Amino acid sequence: MPDPADAAASIERSLSTLRATFRQRFEAAATEQLLRDENAKILGKSGELKAVLNQMGSVPAESRKAIGTIVNTLRQEVEAAFDAQLQALSRKQRDAELNAAPFDLSLPARSPSPLGHAHPISKVRDEIVDVLVSLGFAVHDGPEVEIADNNFTKLGFPADHPATDMQDSFWTTGGLLLRTHTSNIQIRAMMSHKPPMAFIAPGVVYRRDDDATHSPMFHQIECFLVDRNVTLANLRGVLSEFAERYFGSGTPVRLRPSYFPFVEPGAEVDVGCPFCKQPDGTRAGCSVCKRTGWIEILGCGLIHPVVFEHCGIDPEQWTGFAFGMGVERVGMIKYGIPDVRLLFENDPRFLEQF
Ligand code: DAH
Repeated sequence: MPDPADAAASIERSLSTLRATFRQRFEAAATEQLLRDENAKILGKSGELKAVLNQMGSVPAESRKAIGTIVNTLRQEVEAAFDAQLQALSRKQRDAELNAAPFDLSLPARSPSPLGHAHPISKVRDEIVDVLVSLGFAVHDGPEVEIADNNFTKLGFPADHPATDMQDSFWTTGGLLLRTHTSNIQIRAMMSHKPPMAFIAPGVVYRRDDDATHSPMFHQIECFLVDRNVTLANLRGVLSEFAERYFGSGTPVRLRPSYFPFVEPGAEVDVGCPFCKQPDGTRAGCSVCKRTGWIEILGCGLIHPVVFEHCGIDPEQWTGFAFGMGVERVGMIKYGIPDVRLLFENDPRFLEQF
């Protein structure tokens, strides 16, 4: 059995060594983990302070209280020093981050899934819009729910005219319908702008139609120009330039007389079939163009005087041309898509090809 007085002296020595060294030990810990390890060595369940307390049994009763007080004070000092050093470490780490070279924001992100891309209809629409904007036309917007007046009457469709059958419509209530074409924008633009003007109007249109070449909802782009002395030659020039830029250089264009109530004369426009083009520029004829070498892409004409009158524009002074094309139709021709429904089913195996 050791001498109780020696035991007390030995404990006091251990405690004063600890008191003299714990701050240095904490300061030497370079990381949070090392600091916590050091703290555990002192205050932990089998730490140095506990080892000291385990010897208390051999200390004389009269010394215990004094040693207990020293132990408690020391414990508080160690705890406070640990907290202070923990804060100092995290401050140091933060300063190092702030002073380090800045993050490289130009590094590519790690993408968890493959990136998407524009839908082919949007892509074709944007391509057509780009060509027409490059020719000087500005984009004009308008509503998909339209009054019959702007969709039909002002465009020269008389009530019950057989031409309205061509455009079998979705009516809502109160003389409103889902627009059957983007030609309503001609009316809206002419009622709100003074000539001259040159606009295109890309947008969604609706008809009661559903088969391999027709969808009840589809997209059109209207294009029209109002100025003095506009002739068919101006219209033809724009159409030829459009065909050149969109379908490729040397693409021929032809106009066939046709009827639309809002133009006079009216025509349908064919382009040389892109699928059977020969190296010498002629067309061999194929199943797509039904062996004619030509494919219809749009309707056009010179704006009818009655349309100008309906919009408060003097047809003696002002003239104009207009044309309208189906985005799906033009895209099907350009990319050889056999069925319009492919564009709406959104099968990834189809969409991925664009
Ligand atoms: N709006 C017609 C349709 O949807 C297309 C059209 C034909 C537009 C002749 C025009 C045009 O601007 O002049 O069938």
